[in-house]
Amino acid sequence: MCGIVAYTGKQSAREVLIDGLKRLEYRGYDSSGIAILNSPPYWVRTVGKVAELEQRVWKDAPSGVVGIAHTRWATHGKPSENNAHPHIDCTGKIFLAHNGIIENHLLLRKQLSASGHTFRSETDTEVLVHLIESLYKGDLEAAVRKALLRVQGTFGLAVLHAAHPGQIIVARRGSPIVLGIGEDESFAASDASALARHTNQVVYLEDNEVARLEPGRFSITTLENRAVSRDATTLEVGPEAMERGSYPHFMLKEIFEQPEAVENALRGRVNHSEGVARLGGLESVQDRLQEARHLIIVSCGTSYYAGLFARYAFETLTDLAVETELASEFRYRKLNLRQNTVVLAISQSGETADTLAALREAKRKGALVLGLVNVVGSTIARETHAGVYSHAGIEVGVASTKSFVTQITILTLMALLMGRTRDISYEEGATILRGLERLPDQIREILKQSDAIRELARKYCNYSHFLYIGRKYQYPIALEGALKLKEIAYIHAEGYAAGEMKHGPIALIDPAFPTLAIVPEDGSYEKITSNIQEIRARDGRIIAVTTSGNTKLGTLVDDVIEVPHNHELLMPILTVVPLQLFAYHCAVLRGCDVDKPRNLAKSVTVE
Ligand code: G6P
Repeated sequence: MCGIVAYTGKQSAREVLIDGLKRLEYRGYDSSGIAILNSPPYWVRTVGKVAELEQRVWKDAPSGVVGIAHTRWATHGKPSENNAHPHIDCTGKIFLAHNGIIENHLLLRKQLSASGHTFRSETDTEVLVHLIESLYKGDLEAAVRKALLRVQGTFGLAVLHAAHPGQIIVARRGSPIVLGIGEDESFAASDASALARHTNQVVYLEDNEVARLEPGRFSITTLENRAVSRDATTLEVGPEAMERGSYPHFMLKEIFEQPEAVENALRGRVNHSEGVARLGGLESVQDRLQEARHLIIVSCGTSYYAGLFARYAFETLTDLAVETELASEFRYRKLNLRQNTVVLAISQSGETADTLAALREAKRKGALVLGLVNVVGSTIARETHAGVYSHAGIEVGVASTKSFVTQITILTLMALLMGRTRDISYEEGATILRGLERLPDQIREILKQSDAIRELARKYCNYSHFLYIGRKYQYPIALEGALKLKEIAYIHAEGYAAGEMKHGPIALIDPAFPTLAIVPEDGSYEKITSNIQEIRARDGRIIAVTTSGNTKLGTLVDDVIEVPHNHELLMPILTVVPLQLFAYHCAVLRGCDVDKPRNLAKSVTVE
């Protein structure tokens, strides 16, 4: 959730570091800081967005060529200058930026305080810098290694020492660190997007590894000091993927990228002649998939709603018993994981701590663990037995949009793949594939309504509460639509299964509590229109998302958004798009910071 960037080379470090922080800011942003080795070292931290730090740095930072910087999302200790990273040791020579959580920080803090170290912050991180100080005997890398052997918890970190100019030590356990190697310069960051502008030669650190960076060079060892040999790989995404272009916000850009994202998600994965999906990442586990009887899907946030959709999709297309569970709750359930159980972890970032913990638990109990992940090479992608990438491209906006749409597209392909080896006919398979291939153009049609949806948002954006309802395949979309409105427009919104509405939420309905009803003409159309009538009878205002040409709703609803027709299983991939646009426009009209909503982070690496 926090971001780290480090540089040693020939350029002015402050430019590289501030640019890198801006690219990482989407991960978390309540305070930030920078340390540049100079004589004396320059060290500044500020509360708020990276722009605050930037102002300070342009005013008074020296142009040193080595430095580290950090953007923070508070866990231990409120956002403040003292709690912001980098942290320093008592001598003022060691600087450290850290992502993750040091679980035994209280014990270490007690021991270090007792031996005379002075703490300046409330963070768990600060123990690390004092621990390194206490173990330092002239070799920074050795001190970092020794310190990390005494630490419980997770870390991605970068350390500088004034006595070792040109050298940066980085390490990882559970929180990503990627090295970037250029000509006479080296970089490190918690996310390759901070490096892409400078080099496409990257090296991903594995857990429990430490790397020493010098200009244009790196070496890696394990925490136990065994040398590791690893070549740089070429980064596949270019720096332009991180640019907003002419869009006012990343979120809008990403909503508009959805037609191409779905095309990419489908590319090479559709086998018309067999009426089946082709997912190369699952071929190695084909036999176990064939024997599977039970599927458990684990994920968080928007990815959880993709998992809820998948429950319906797998139940429709396969004979598997399917459960979808919040990753954070998975460990509290006594699920009967057997040889024929498959656990599927869904995650955009591939780093979400709860999802990672759930998949490790499932592995421990012998289940086959699959991943559906967007970020290539991320921890979840590496720790699962097999999996599929969603190919949505980099998603910067904190509110997930194109990732969700590609996730539910691929989940449909996965269900189809497993269904075709069970009881789904060629004809049924081929019909779904044809429907999937119509989606990109159909999404393009919906996007043309963005201006009209903005006008609708103008009409409704000052309401304080919303109810979102849907049935069956559209129930997860009601939840996702409500989440989008909460996340970025700060409007209280509840997603509900339409049938549950009369068991509680109906008590809230009045003219000041509008409902957004997702009612494509599908198998549950009649039932959900009865729910709409119940709302109407209580003077509730209603916006309906329905299929084009449906005139039957008439005066039952106040406003209508139309989406094209497709197979009912695929309609969620269409109905979610106007809900994203509605939330986006409401947020802009309310003056919210769409790409960096308050208190949220793109990648949640704490449990
Ligand atoms: C955070 C993000 C959400 C995301 C969730 C799960 O809360 O703000 O947009 O859905 O984490 O993240 P994941 O990367 O595992 O999909």
